Amino acid sequence: MDKMKHLLKVKYDLEAAKIVPQRGGWAALAFKVYSGDGSFFLKVYEKSRASTPKWTALIDQYVPITVWLMHNSQLRGRLPVPVLTQNGDYKCEDDEGIYLLYEYIEGETVGDKELTGDQVEELSKMIAELHLYGEEIPVETKAIKEDFAVPFLAQMRTVVDQAIDELPYEVRELIQSHMVQLMKLMDSIEKLSADLMKRNLKMTLCHTDLHNWNLMQSSSRQLMLIDWEGLKLAPVEADLMFFIDKPYYHAFMTNYRKVHNEFAINPDVLQFYQDRRKLEDIWEFIEQILFDRQDAQERAETISHLSREIREINS
Ligand SMILES: Nc1ncnc2c1ncn2[C@@H]1O[C@H](COP(=O)(O)OP(=O)(O)O)[C@@H](O)[C@H]1O
Ligand SMILES: [Mg+2]
Repeated sequence: MDKMKHLLKVKYDLEAAKIVPQRGGWAALAFKVYSGDGSFFLKVYEKSRASTPKWTALIDQYVPITVWLMHNSQLRGRLPVPVLTQNGDYKCEDDEGIYLLYEYIEGETVGDKELTGDQVEELSKMIAELHLYGEEIPVETKAIKEDFAVPFLAQMRTVVDQAIDELPYEVRELIQSHMVQLMKLMDSIEKLSADLMKRNLKMTLCHTDLHNWNLMQSSSRQLMLIDWEGLKLAPVEADLMFFIDKPYYHAFMTNYRKVHNEFAINPDVLQFYQDRRKLEDIWEFIEQILFDRQDAQERAETISHLSREIREINS
């Protein structure tokens, strides 16, 4: 904690009175920082984790876009507010991690709870608003443009066909007994990826990680959408895929179509996003087992998640 206090002082000129670990997310550790200037949320991506380069590579590209949205769209007040370093940077780092600081949102994460009808309405308005903006905005979006690549696929194929012996016994068993399904999924994604690259699809800003752990009900009664590290210029199916199976899908789309009247889902694009997400989750768990330093309990948890994901491929 002292190291973190020092970093906050040097980089942000912030005198942290107290730093309290928070329940983090999937990608990063999280801390609440108390200071005379208010409370802050510090997100720490540990350099020891295999997934960190992927999640942090585009910070300088996506954060300014969220700042632009915050000032120029109806999403004002709905996004987390980043705190810049004294040098005006969106992030800072030391030998252990990459750090992002935000204003602290007082409120409750939706998390395990179901969205209320009012929240569904708010969320559909927010997503419809986000999808009104694209490459015409005055902030560069090239770096976050969807290219339909599946960068981890080649490495995943190698592990599955050749390096499978490096995996723990249970994982090997699990993969071997679902090999046909796994191969089918990889082949189908590869085809869809090549096909979509050739098409000229309409793209807008998309959040791409729309689940309830990324929604907070702030005490000022607004629903907030957080965790923008997946921000992309992409076909809207990249976001709408998260609602397809939800009981409130119809209500969501009714609201959404008030803004995007003649919108219809493109089934190929939807399939691509659903399949890539499934495969990417499986790959991240395999990557954690292969490359992250994990204790026995962490490893058991990862294996249990992986096992659930692999068994779900069929459905
Ligand atoms: N600015 C914030 N203020 C207060 N809590 C936050 C803030 N941002 C995120 N959180 C909480 O921390 C959790 C993890 O943050 P998130 O940005 O989603 O990280 P990850 O990329 O690891 O999923 C969220 O589910 C939410 O509960
Ligand atoms: Mg999150």
